Amino acid sequence: MHRTLKLSLLVLLAGLSFDTYAQKTANVAISTDSKLTISRFIYGQFAEHLGHGVYGGFWVDKTLPVPKQDRIRLDVVNALKRIKIPDLRWPGGCFADEYHWRDGIGPRLQRPKMVNTNWGNVTDDNSFGTSEFLELCQLIGCEPYIAGNVGSGTVEEMSKWIEYLNLDGESTMATLRKQNGHPAPYKVTFWGVGNESLGCGGNMTPEFYTDQYKRYSAYAKNYPGAKLKKIASGPNSDDYNWTEVCMKNIGTGMWGLSLHYYTIPSGNWGHKGSATKFEEKEYFNTMVNGLKMEELVTKHSAIMDKYDPEKRVALVVDEWGVWTDVEPGTNPGFLYQQNSLRDALLAATTLNIFNNHCDRVKMANLAQTVNVLQSLILTDKEKMLLTPTYHIFDLYKVHQDAKYLPVKLNSPDYEFDGKKIPAVSLTASQDASGKIHVSLVNLDPHNNITVTAKLDGLEWNHITGQVLTSANLTDINTFQHPNKIHIENFSNAKKDGDKLIVDLPAKSVVTLELN
Ligand code: AHR
Repeated sequence: MHRTLKLSLLVLLAGLSFDTYAQKTANVAISTDSKLTISRFIYGQFAEHLGHGVYGGFWVDKTLPVPKQDRIRLDVVNALKRIKIPDLRWPGGCFADEYHWRDGIGPRLQRPKMVNTNWGNVTDDNSFGTSEFLELCQLIGCEPYIAGNVGSGTVEEMSKWIEYLNLDGESTMATLRKQNGHPAPYKVTFWGVGNESLGCGGNMTPEFYTDQYKRYSAYAKNYPGAKLKKIASGPNSDDYNWTEVCMKNIGTGMWGLSLHYYTIPSGNWGHKGSATKFEEKEYFNTMVNGLKMEELVTKHSAIMDKYDPEKRVALVVDEWGVWTDVEPGTNPGFLYQQNSLRDALLAATTLNIFNNHCDRVKMANLAQTVNVLQSLILTDKEKMLLTPTYHIFDLYKVHQDAKYLPVKLNSPDYEFDGKKIPAVSLTASQDASGKIHVSLVNLDPHNNITVTAKLDGLEWNHITGQVLTSANLTDINTFQHPNKIHIENFSNAKKDGDKLIVDLPAKSVVTLELN
């Protein structure tokens, strides 16, 4: 009995020491063999009239003691400026197809009120409308991306909105814009022709939608200096038939085709899973579900390639991110969720996928910037915090409009419960000044991984780095501890001959700069 116990102990210790000391390794080849650019619009954001995203997030009460321009919160604006968000999509989402733009222009007190039937049936006083949105974009320094109403709006309504925004001349709409205080045209170019027309945007079949797209699109005019980049309402998730029909019927008659995909931790829309309380099993499943983006982008792109081999039409992933249960005690229609290290790891993994598919993915919009779904920023009255996901966009801003460097990766697995996913993913680019940036993710919560990278045809001598990690996957930033998760300097990367060797910490995201 005694001997058996001793033997079991020895076996256990041998197992433990194996786990502890076996260093996991990954190998990477980074090359210059591409002429592609990583579009900055992959780093776009989305702000719908939903919960406290627009109202209470961007647009606050006059009496709130924070720096403001008009009623726009400047602390939020400045935070978004720092990470260079390139565009903001508005006014929805499902809200876009019940939004009538004329209700949101002119003197605010005279604007009609509406009920937001999609999101909690709350009253929207229309105080945040066209000019307020464009003022917000101008303050952030980003491009506006407007989703027009196809579901419940008319062709004339959409056509006149574009005329109101973009015509530099004499017309009733241009005069109205001037009367409302904006003599110069706004020159909005990113234009969504409906949102989720297969569901909340009108429950259409793809055949019906593509006919509607052509009709609405025919009267969505290009005015001088404002050539529209029309984005058709595309598939949800793996609805490949929708993509097939859009490509067949519209083809290159659109600038982009949208794709929406949300990562539901449990994979079940009824009980999505908590944003803050989860075990490794849920973490693993979240990553499995998140990595589905690779398959979706690959398969939708393959269909697009059949009709558009020159890749003129962009795949625009204009809604993505983690969607959890709402925070307990909050309005279920407001989609308010916290944001953990897990969500940051998912965001970085997804951005790696988009960057590595930059031949087709030219734009993406995380849902939904402030206080809604996977936010960059949370606010509570005058307080504001930056989420772990915000820090990922900070670490990744260096890739915007940089030259894409193709990567070939051999990653160890992260195994859980007999299932496996690749532990490492990465993206690399070279900016206009010649600096090389490599961003790496390690999804394995237990093991550091030694990554050895060969960079062909690239000259560099010095390395600096930054890392985002934390003790627990469930760690979050709160209004009491807003900086629990923050970016730190990273020094565990070195040059060894012509190789880059990185000791990538467990559950971390690292961005390196080589020059
Ligand atoms: O982002 C929340 C909602 O998700 C959007 O309004 C809709 O387009 C999607 O279904």
